[in-house]
Amino acid sequence: MSSSDSCVEVHDVHKSFKRGGEVLDVLNGLNLAVKQGEFVALMGPSGSGKTTLLNLIAGLDKPTTGTISVRGEEISMMSEGQLASWRTRSLGFVFQFYHLLPVLTAFRNVELPLLLLPLSGAQRRTQVTTALDIVGLSDRMWHRPGQLSGGQQQRVGIARAIVTDPALIVADEPTGDLDAKSADEILNLLVELKSSMNKTIVMVTHDPRAAERADRIVHLDKGRLVVQAP
Ligand SMILES: Nc1ncnc2c1ncn2[C@@H]1O[C@H](COP(=O)(O)OP(=O)(O)O)[C@@H](O)[C@H]1O
Ligand SMILES: [Mg+2]
Repeated sequence: MSSSDSCVEVHDVHKSFKRGGEVLDVLNGLNLAVKQGEFVALMGPSGSGKTTLLNLIAGLDKPTTGTISVRGEEISMMSEGQLASWRTRSLGFVFQFYHLLPVLTAFRNVELPLLLLPLSGAQRRTQVTTALDIVGLSDRMWHRPGQLSGGQQQRVGIARAIVTDPALIVADEPTGDLDAKSADEILNLLVELKSSMNKTIVMVTHDPRAAERADRIVHLDKGRLVVQAP
């Protein structure tokens, strides 16, 4: 299944958790290939393993067996140190509840991932203002999260995810805490990142209307992906 235009390749991945004396098999031989510039929505019942899969693709956890490659690099083989460096350069993560630091302004929140890279203050400033401009928040740069609406906070979250210009963005229920109008704005932004910047996006969602904005919808069921009939 290796092909040159693939961004994410998940091959025969099993993931088990030990809980008490029991072993819980969450993913059971899961396969997924996502092309560069593709926007995939991942759906499935609560507890079906969506976040588990997203965390594996993001290199935040490792498969029990099986392999995961992103842009030809096998992240499931990397050490913790290699993974941390890979995540900083190659991945943006968008959370349901934004995960912004409340004491920092939008600018400083978006700047955080850049502090791990060897950049000058001027370079950081250029990248942060570019990212905030892309999400339409140039005029809210010096606001703190508490001074922003939920939709605006999520746009700051997206700016933080794209500030290092990663090829891959993963989003775990990014519209789950938003009203319909703000959710639409976030989805418009994700579609725009995909179509004008060729970002690859894997988004978990419960909302069929959100999922419809993706190029493709995959469903998690019993630890495997089932492709929905069109
Ligand atoms: N770190 C963990 N330790 C033990 N069990 C876990 C852990 N992470 C997730 N699980 C379990 O794995 C299953 C899938 O969880 P999750 O991936 O969060 O589901 P979803 O995001 O689809 O709701 C659940 O039964 C959950 O309790
Ligand atoms: Mg989840």
